[in-house]
Amino acid sequence: MRPSDTVARPSRARGAAATLAAVISVVTAVAVGLAMPAQAASTLKAAAEAKGRYFGTALTRGDLSNTSLTTLAAAQFDMVTPGNEMKWDATEPSRGSFNYSGGDQIVSFAQARGMRVRGHTLVWHNQLPSWVSALPLNQVQSAMENHIANVAGHYKGKIYAWDVVNEPFNEDGSYRNDAFYKAMGTGYFAVALRAARAADPNARLYINDYNVEGVNAKSDALYALARSLKSQGAPLDGIGVQAHFIVGQVPSTLQANLQRFADLGLDVAITELDDRIQMPADSSELQQQGTDYGRIVNSCLAVARCVGISQWGVDDGHSWIPGTFPGYGAPMMWDASYQPKPAYTAALNALNSGTSSPSPSPSPSPSPSPSPSPSPGPGGACSATISTVNSWGGGFQSEVTVRAGSSAVNGWTVKWSWPGGQSISSLWNGIQTVSGSAVTVKNAAYNGSVPAGGSTTFGFTANGTAATPTATCTSP
Ligand code: G3I
Repeated sequence: MRPSDTVARPSRARGAAATLAAVISVVTAVAVGLAMPAQAASTLKAAAEAKGRYFGTALTRGDLSNTSLTTLAAAQFDMVTPGNEMKWDATEPSRGSFNYSGGDQIVSFAQARGMRVRGHTLVWHNQLPSWVSALPLNQVQSAMENHIANVAGHYKGKIYAWDVVNEPFNEDGSYRNDAFYKAMGTGYFAVALRAARAADPNARLYINDYNVEGVNAKSDALYALARSLKSQGAPLDGIGVQAHFIVGQVPSTLQANLQRFADLGLDVAITELDDRIQMPADSSELQQQGTDYGRIVNSCLAVARCVGISQWGVDDGHSWIPGTFPGYGAPMMWDASYQPKPAYTAALNALNSGTSSPSPSPSPSPSPSPSPSPSPGPGGACSATISTVNSWGGGFQSEVTVRAGSSAVNGWTVKWSWPGGQSISSLWNGIQTVSGSAVTVKNAAYNGSVPAGGSTTFGFTANGTAATPTATCTSP
């Protein structure tokens, strides 16, 4: 069964407004409406790290040759899940013959960019080579333990967390009758977890499933399993909820459900987030998707042991959704042209504005290539520096750092001129006025106060060739 197959389809409200208008209206609403700290971050990973979380994505080997995609991924995310490359069919296609080429490429990509890796997945009924299911039942346990020892052993020390067991339940909460259950009954969970712990003692060990985001029969069964494993002393560290949602249908019990697993002494993570829309997506659905993403982020921030969120991919052009759910699409925070959608702005603003229960195991990864620091101005003055976060054919994303001098600043205005006809398509954490090539950005209601020596940022996406013109900053 496919994720969310049992969930009813959304009601449709169609309109003709363009995506861009949706983005701008969300940004405007946020700019005037929400209280946010002065230190608002301009990327998902920076904003998540400020809250002791990570924000991740799934990448496949094929994605690595797409420069637009990888540049965006490295700028925004600090965690990578290999989309297919660590699954059993990729790593042990025939018995005892191991292949790590795809997984190694993803790990190298991540490590070179200061990103961590969620290993996915060691024991799963799907993408399981036929030789495993064909084994006599009394050989399945040794094959599973050998697989885990080899794969988790190969990646020892390089994996933040492993999805040790993936998707073990049917929708009614019964156990999926796969090769592992047939051979070992419910005993296979503890066997798999112990094998993973032995192979890589520092990796966090998870059970991961879909349609377990809210409180329901399936998540009740997962909860009972997790409680049982904990009481047995099995090395279970976390529960992953995949979160393959339909727009407008994020369960109202998401936060409560995450909390009940956390209360068992487990980490929780949102591991494969997407939010599909019946195509063509209209502006109200894109806005609703933004509302959904904001709610999901807030649910994680409200649960101290929710360690992070990963989206299952980067952009709408590389999602599994249209191929698996014909007629549905647009499930990501960026469209197929790598333009941020309202969901991106909503997720970023939720991270920046949300009150957070502190995460107990933040260990954020180092952020590569920091933006250049502008030199502080004199007392009461400010300076501003523009840096490029991401660029693609015909557009780019920038971050502007506004820094106070030796005195605090109360209110700031940043100005620059575009050198080559560029134009801003959306801007956040500030209020813009444009006159020809001249751009003026004033602070939003929530980020005008910058302490002495401190800084804040605003960001924007723009059309045209990426440029970093010199900006001036004045303070009243
Ligand atoms: O590798 C073969 C290739 O040799 C062949 O030519 C081609 C023709 O169809 O298929 C290729 O395999 C595909 C594989 O991805 C690698 O690209 C499979 O058909 C395709 O079904 C498979 O889809 C993956 C799916 O898991 C399988 O269940 C998706 O890419 C992957 O994103 C998806 O990820 C899962 C998570 O692991 C678990 N949770 C749900 C999530 C979405 O389904």
